[in-house]
Amino acid sequence: MSRVKVFFNSSVNSKIVASLAGLGLVGFVIFHMLGNLQVFEGSDAINGYASILRDMPILLWTARVGLLAVAGVHVGLTLRLALRNRQARSVAYAARRYRFASVASRTMALTGSLLLMFIIFHLLHLTAGVIDPPALDGLDAQGRIDVYGKIVHAFSNPLYVGIYVAGQLVLGLHLSHAVSSVFQTWGIEHAALDHLFKLAGPGVALFVVLGNLAIIFAVFLGLLRT
Ligand code: HEM
Repeated sequence: MSRVKVFFNSSVNSKIVASLAGLGLVGFVIFHMLGNLQVFEGSDAINGYASILRDMPILLWTARVGLLAVAGVHVGLTLRLALRNRQARSVAYAARRYRFASVASRTMALTGSLLLMFIIFHLLHLTAGVIDPPALDGLDAQGRIDVYGKIVHAFSNPLYVGIYVAGQLVLGLHLSHAVSSVFQTWGIEHAALDHLFKLAGPGVALFVVLGNLAIIFAVFLGLLRT
């Protein structure tokens, strides 16, 4: 058996790598939200910001391929771990008892799958422009991709507001449990700090979700317009 196979045959190793990849994705989601908040500074700020990466195609594609690889590792390993757990428990529980487990922890596979579907939809919508592209050519006066226009066009429509708000709910639940459980996966325990570790997940989730919701509702309520 190859060394890689031996390494990933251990559930502990798989969990640690999956959690590292997950943390990479959390970093991206925070960075992406903070970048998108530039929409509040107007079209020049956010279109200029988006064009920086586009002007460096090698960097852009390295980041895209890297992100895809990290997402693939996270999804692949967590799915494999979930299947293994199910197989190891060959007889299903007669009754599920969830006295101490939060909704977020019980629904990780479900929220993870829904999140993946939301991301695919989001890429087809705001990156590829296959779903509901803005009417014009999608460029601003300086010939840059009009990210500001895309965002305003998207969230002026209640249908997309509904889909993105649902996406934020799913993202929030997933992040909330994921971030707090990283400490457990890495065996970091401390009586005085356990309380903080438990709060870290909901805190990060709230930060990201509120930032994203601010963009969605600022457009929907007419505070941001073209
Ligand atoms: C209200 C929330 C969000 C807004 C307004 C938003 C906005 C955007 C926009 C405008 C783009 C295209 C940028 C461009 O064309 O240069 C984009 C790309 C992307 N978004 Fe979001 N996004 C949001 C939430 C999310 C979430 C929650 C995730 C992941 C969980 C995500 C993942 C991505 C990815 C992976 C890309 C592709 C980046 C690339 O390859 O260039 N987004 N987003």
